[in-house]
Amino acid sequence: MQKLDDLDDRLILAAQQARDGAYAPYSGYKVGAALLCENGDIISGCNVENRSYGATLCAERIAIARAVCLGHISFDKLAVVTDGDPPATPCGICLQVLAEFCKDLPILLANVQGRVLRTRLKNLLPAPFDFK
Ligand code: THU
Repeated sequence: MQKLDDLDDRLILAAQQARDGAYAPYSGYKVGAALLCENGDIISGCNVENRSYGATLCAERIAIARAVCLGHISFDKLAVVTDGDPPATPCGICLQVLAEFCKDLPILLANVQGRVLRTRLKNLLPAPFDFK
């Protein structure tokens, strides 16, 4: 496994711990996300499913919504933890929501087996919707 710096380690750990709280009785697929805010705070989220499947909330959007509610709109990094190899990328809706707040953002894609891939928001969503 690639050597991580301390902050990356902490961010992935926060995402992993959030993942433990996932409510995913329908898919059984748990996701944890953690955002590093500009001021150093780490805000996490997990997926919350609903029997009306379309009402399901992704871990990444929960983390963003929690962060924004607490006054954070500038972010330095995101970590996402899933089970499976390769580690999963955020879905298109979550990428668009991230793009609302970040021109670009380093993203750590990790799995519970300890594999970590590094990418960026710009790589995953090069052309977010914008009506400017
Ligand atoms: N999920 C996330 O939490 N984040 C994503 O970016 C994609 C999918 C969740 C939603 C659902 O609870 C489960 O993963 C299976 O789609």
